[in-house]
Amino acid sequence: MQPLKIAVLISGRGSNLQAIMDSIESSELPAKILCVISDKPDAYGLERARKHGIQAETVDYKEIAKTCGRASQLDTYESILLDTLQRYNPDLVCLAGYMRIIGPKIISAFRGRIINIHPALLPSFPGLHSQKQALDHGVKISGCTVHFVDEGCDTGPIILQKAVPVLEDDTEETLSVRILEQEHRAYPEAIRLIAEGRVRIEGRKTKISKDGK
Ligand code: GRF
Repeated sequence: MQPLKIAVLISGRGSNLQAIMDSIESSELPAKILCVISDKPDAYGLERARKHGIQAETVDYKEIAKTCGRASQLDTYESILLDTLQRYNPDLVCLAGYMRIIGPKIISAFRGRIINIHPALLPSFPGLHSQKQALDHGVKISGCTVHFVDEGCDTGPIILQKAVPVLEDDTEETLSVRILEQEHRAYPEAIRLIAEGRVRIEGRKTKISKDGK
């Protein structure tokens, strides 16, 4: 089987990227990372990628915003990001702590081929600060979700989820750590399902087959 060619988009520390790289290196995940792209030049994930000999690039949102008018900055940024992605021509784009909305140009160029990891059990607590939202709501179970990206905010078809208990004395930090441990298992697992050809999108759901047929 040919390894699945992936691009990873990040904005920060890149611990999910690390989990994906580790799974590939230990041969648990039949994939190859073609490139890691960050919207911020100082994202620690870029260093992690370089340490593993992976092409690491920045499409610097702030710099782009400085050089073009406010109205067109998003459009320009998205076009440059799309060009960069198309240069690598990945089978799958993985958002791993990428803190920007993916715009319509990229969604339509990579429809059904962009996935994201979210630190809550969607459809509960989409958007930012999901762990705090979960604590504030008083749920007893939270977790993480790997899902396809569509035009909405964290609304696309769900591939897999992992649950974690919310404890009485949890803070945003302690709950985030417990969820992150599961994210590091969930993301490589979801990519593996896709690499094995076992994930099919059907409307707003996914169907996961047992054997890749
Ligand atoms: C993770 O909690 C992920 O679910 C969310 O952003 C965080 C990124 O962490 N989307 P890292 O950069 O992968 O360490």
